[in-house]
Amino acid sequence: MAVEVNFIEQELNISEIRDQFPILSREVNGYPLAYFDNAATTQKPRSVIDAITHYYNNFNANIHRGVHTLAEEATSAFEQTRIAVQQFVNAHEAEEIIFTKGTSESINLVASTYGKAFVKSGDEIIITGMEHHSNIVPWQMLCEENGASLKIIPISETGEISLDDFRETLTDKTKIVSVCMASNALGTINPVKELARLSHEAGAVVLLDAAQALPHLEIDVQELNCDFLAASAHKMYGPTGVGILYGKRNLLEMMPPYQGGGEMIKEVTFKKTTYNDIPFKFEAGTPNIADVVAFKSAIDFINGIGKKMIAEHETELLQHAISGLSEIEKVNFIGEAKERVSVLSFNIEGIHPFDVGMMLDAMGIAVRTGHHCTMPLMARFDIEGTVRASFAIYNTIEEIDRLIDGVRKIAVRAK
Ligand SMILES: Cc1ncc(COP(=O)(O)O)c(C=O)c1O
Repeated sequence: MAVEVNFIEQELNISEIRDQFPILSREVNGYPLAYFDNAATTQKPRSVIDAITHYYNNFNANIHRGVHTLAEEATSAFEQTRIAVQQFVNAHEAEEIIFTKGTSESINLVASTYGKAFVKSGDEIIITGMEHHSNIVPWQMLCEENGASLKIIPISETGEISLDDFRETLTDKTKIVSVCMASNALGTINPVKELARLSHEAGAVVLLDAAQALPHLEIDVQELNCDFLAASAHKMYGPTGVGILYGKRNLLEMMPPYQGGGEMIKEVTFKKTTYNDIPFKFEAGTPNIADVVAFKSAIDFINGIGKKMIAEHETELLQHAISGLSEIEKVNFIGEAKERVSVLSFNIEGIHPFDVGMMLDAMGIAVRTGHHCTMPLMARFDIEGTVRASFAIYNTIEEIDRLIDGVRKIAVRAK
């Protein structure tokens, strides 16, 4: 009886949650939209959309340098988001949160500043074989420039890394370990706390790419003891064009600035410029004020439901999808890690993933197909790409049933 009551409560909440997302009521190709491309970007609740309009209608102004009322209101709203992010990841202080335009920029910032200043020829940087291109290319660029080398932790058949492989790869030359907390292509959750502990023992700093983790998992940067953490607002119900970089104060203070310009300076003369304190030292120019302000509404949205509830619902969706799809002949999963977020990659034998994506789209079902910006990972599995369904809090069991049904129909046609 108690289980039934919980179930009903949860169902009610999900439909209330769906009502907050205007886009979810639209049709695609004559069917209600079933949106399973959440790992690429989530849809936005009305509160986030309204916050953008509210900002422009009521207190649009440039921040930090004005004394007039609008400038003060805009500055205060912008800084409120910084505090909301600080609390969301449990950073020690708000100054440790830097706004960027996304995870990619956050990682590039660390590679271009910490990397250039502290990684020298002969040093090593470790990443895993499941990284997004955003967590590969900036390090390759750094290595090309300074003669350091990039070491890769191999990926097992189930889509996981082993701590033994990590221990073997880690040396006293390792200066940076940069890994995803959760893989965007396979959903695998990596043992990042242990990786951070081992890395620190070896004297390396740790960057966590939390693009796919922050929307789903409780994250406490102090407990994880990571040195940097990067994430994107748009993957967690917030606007595009906003990212965060968390960094420990002592490291951020040691690092040279990223870009030069307004806001990041204390004093400029033609002889010498002194730089602003953190976080402003890393925020040159006018930032994406409206979207940063609206990002707070996305954080409020997640907090309003709670990560525990989000994780429970998404796990139920994932398990339902796995059990339904695994019964279909010719469907092969890529990645079957024990610990994972709600990302599911598969292929249908004999059909190119793009074609599967097109056929599902014709049924109103949005999935992503291709290499998911993880070409080395696809090469590891000797495939060109996958069909990826990734779930969010507003997805329902009925939608997953439509996915399973759609895939079944497509698989029947496969040679
Ligand atoms: C794991 C991971 N890292 C980095 C990125 C890059 O994020 P963004 O495009 O928001 O900079 C993504 C985006 O899909 C991702 O999934």
